[in-house]
Amino acid sequence: METIQNFPEITKKDFPLLNNNTKSNEQIIYLDHAATTQKPIQVLKKIDEYYKNFNANVHRGAHQLSAKATEEFENARYSISKYIKAKSTKEIIFTRNATEAINLVARSWGEYSLKENDEILLSIMEHHSNIVPWQMVAAKNKCKLKFIGIDKNGKLDIDDFKSKLTSRTKLVSLVHVSNTLGCCNPIKEITQLAKQKGSLVLIDACQSLAHQKLDVMNLNIDFLAGSGHKLCGPTGIGFLWSRKEILEQIPPLFGGGEMIQDVFEETSTWAELPHKFEAGTPAIAEAIGLAEAINYINNIGLNEIHEYEKTITKYLFEKLNQIENIEIIGPSPEIDPDRASLATFYIKNIHSNDIAEILDSKGICIRSGHHCCQPLHRYIGIKSTARISMNFTTNKEEIDMFIEQLKDTIDFLKINS
Ligand code: ALA
Repeated sequence: METIQNFPEITKKDFPLLNNNTKSNEQIIYLDHAATTQKPIQVLKKIDEYYKNFNANVHRGAHQLSAKATEEFENARYSISKYIKAKSTKEIIFTRNATEAINLVARSWGEYSLKENDEILLSIMEHHSNIVPWQMVAAKNKCKLKFIGIDKNGKLDIDDFKSKLTSRTKLVSLVHVSNTLGCCNPIKEITQLAKQKGSLVLIDACQSLAHQKLDVMNLNIDFLAGSGHKLCGPTGIGFLWSRKEILEQIPPLFGGGEMIQDVFEETSTWAELPHKFEAGTPAIAEAIGLAEAINYINNIGLNEIHEYEKTITKYLFEKLNQIENIEIIGPSPEIDPDRASLATFYIKNIHSNDIAEILDSKGICIRSGHHCCQPLHRYIGIKSTARISMNFTTNKEEIDMFIEQLKDTIDFLKINS
């Protein structure tokens, strides 16, 4: 890659949808990358290649097609393990998405390990996928959920974390980068404190994996949930990483083909890791597509992506801050330099859905609503916010156009309210 400022010009041409025209023949401005990223042509071609040239089931056939599909599928696991610096491919479990990965931990580790009055420490900024599975296991195993609050800058309140972490805490489960506040949580500090109390740590890395380097061993975490579709890969594929020692001890969540060693009429024994957790035919094309997406991101360079996204985030905040009556939730880039390249905001007396709908009519895609974070919105005392989320394909001209249209939209809605 040449200079980081050229990223959008270099990369955008790889994304068919970002070069497409909308029905009204206008170029679309896609600013909803936190909900799902667009897919580069390299990923689409790889999926096409699998179905056209080597479509077969994995780990099952002696024939050449199955051997090729298995090789590519297992190479995908290897790519993920390298991407997050896992020790072994045995520690990567393919799931449908990050939600399934968290549910796997909740059911296989949680139901198996948690006792009455044990505590699970979450934060109020969690996505529903990192709340609901824990509510379910807490109800079943009679344990308690606790929530860490947010400080005045819109970041995780570390003092609150320290006060809620006890010797009864068995798991701290947190988002790495918040999909709504955009803050980047200090996982290393959290892990260090959690380990002193004997607690395990899970991170939901959906919003960080495509934006900054991540090293599971260095962070000293125990579980990581990731999704493919937020990483320029396909939907229907995600993964769980955990330490081999933990995965070896806990029972599988799903039973069926592929995850067994021997099946008798009354009992069965389990396959070796990672297959013990992968019942049934996996999402083969999707896993292979995800590996291609990782390859694409690696070729651009995660450090370069992070640096570029910092510059456009700063620019976006400068522009948004010039708009009257706008309230941005989450820390500014000055307060949290590693924050996500997104901004979530609201304007008093204007519903965020109205803003998003009007912008959509102008070809600008943003998200509005609670962003799967109802407890966070209740905590802040607002029902709905608007969110613009960017990535390395976003350029300053698009931010300018968004700002201009946002100002017009606010004026229009004010006149009509
Ligand atoms: N969690 C995704 C988002 O933030 C869906 O939009």
